[in-house]
Amino acid sequence: MSFIEIKDIINKFLGAKENGNKSNNLEKTDKIHVKIKRQDNIDSKPYYQEFLIPYKEHMNVIMLLMYIRENPVDINGAEVKPIAFEASCLEEVCGSCTMVINGKPRQACSTLIENLEQPIVIEPLSKFKVIRDLIVDRSKMFEGLKKVRAWVDIDGTYDKGPGPTYSQEIQQIRYALSRCMTCGACLEVCPQYNDITNFVGPYALAQAYLFNLHPTGKNFEKYRLSYLISKEGIANCGNAQLCVQVCPKSIPITDAIAELNGSITKYLLTLISK
Ligand code: SF4
Ligand code: FES
Repeated sequence: MSFIEIKDIINKFLGAKENGNKSNNLEKTDKIHVKIKRQDNIDSKPYYQEFLIPYKEHMNVIMLLMYIRENPVDINGAEVKPIAFEASCLEEVCGSCTMVINGKPRQACSTLIENLEQPIVIEPLSKFKVIRDLIVDRSKMFEGLKKVRAWVDIDGTYDKGPGPTYSQEIQQIRYALSRCMTCGACLEVCPQYNDITNFVGPYALAQAYLFNLHPTGKNFEKYRLSYLISKEGIANCGNAQLCVQVCPKSIPITDAIAELNGSITKYLLTLISK
């Protein structure tokens, strides 16, 4: 386990304490009161439905949603449509289960029921189109990654021997940045990420920095910087710093933005001096 992962676990533990998220001492016989924002399709209006779900020890939000999917009966005993949601890794790595739980973007797989106030309110992420219930279309995040060219270009797939070496210090920074799972939590809380600004978003800035730090990825540094000085780029960041507060992978987003700002200043100076 790396130093960053250990720091993550400690931060989560401390965060839980600060938020008063201590165990609610739930018993097996308890019922969980949950309120879910639902939407039948991309064009229909959202509505809320409430449920009472039997508690299971160490139950997470995914278990709760699975129970409702198998037993689609609301708080009044009426049969309803099974709930739609996404999940894949079940270990906070893929980001697909990200939703707004009690007002905060979190991963349903790593959020324990015992740490949540009731009624638990579950809503889809608000910065994306809702496809159905808790499933959103996050494809614009992947479009953002394309815009910042968030990859290392390779010349063919044949073995060309070991790649260029770089320092342990840069490896540590790149490792921390590489843990982004495009979950969208940082976009949910970013006041600047909206239809008016067309800001590409904090995660994309962090990924631009990740690939600018790579010895081969650096070949396209100017390409990334020239995009980041566009209307969709870094000038939209208002430094609210909410992204770093909610990022489940503790990505040093604001550090990356500060470093990119420095690179952009140098880049602009070279353009002026030409
Ligand atoms: S930077 Fe953090 S919050 Fe934003 S998409 Fe990546 S993992 Fe999620
Ligand atoms: S299922 Fe992958 S992060 Fe929750």
